[in-house]
Amino acid sequence: MQDDGQVPVYGVGDASFQAAGGEAGIRRLVDDFYDAMERLPVAATVRAMHPADLTSARDKLARFLCGWMNGPKRYQEKYGPISIPSAHAHLVIDTAARDAWLACMVEALDRQPYPDDFKRYLFRQLSIPAERVRNRP
Ligand code: HEM
Repeated sequence: MQDDGQVPVYGVGDASFQAAGGEAGIRRLVDDFYDAMERLPVAATVRAMHPADLTSARDKLARFLCGWMNGPKRYQEKYGPISIPSAHAHLVIDTAARDAWLACMVEALDRQPYPDDFKRYLFRQLSIPAERVRNRP
């Protein structure tokens, strides 16, 4: 419940951004996401696609998700326009890589203080761009 007694409908206005804990909450999600990528054996191939230093990747994904959840457009402010499929076109992303990326997200979501229905909602929504960046069978 929100303070005004209304049940938030994720995806409407900035309800998702708020449910994720705003920018600070999204930064925690992304930190846990990349920590999972460093730890999970299934994610080793996806980890290897990234530079050794994940500082910039963390910053970019956190800023992107901020706007993606209808919060402030932090990615564009710093880095300019982006198309998620084009930003990944140079990478080889097959079904296994997509699923490994999503597995890191499941680990990260598990660690957040979000309501369970929001975790499930966010996972379903993130599965859409994850499928769109896949460029191999
Ligand atoms: C599904 C499999 C995915 C793989 C294997 C993958 C992998 C990568 C890699 C290797 C980078 C480059 C990082 C760097 O050079 O610092 C990257 C960048 C990025 N990824 Fe993904 N990614 C995936 C899905 C997604 C999804 C679903 C989103 C958004 C919801 C996303 C958002 C981004 C953003 C915003 C960047 C920064 C792009 C840039 O500024 O050039 N990625 N990704």
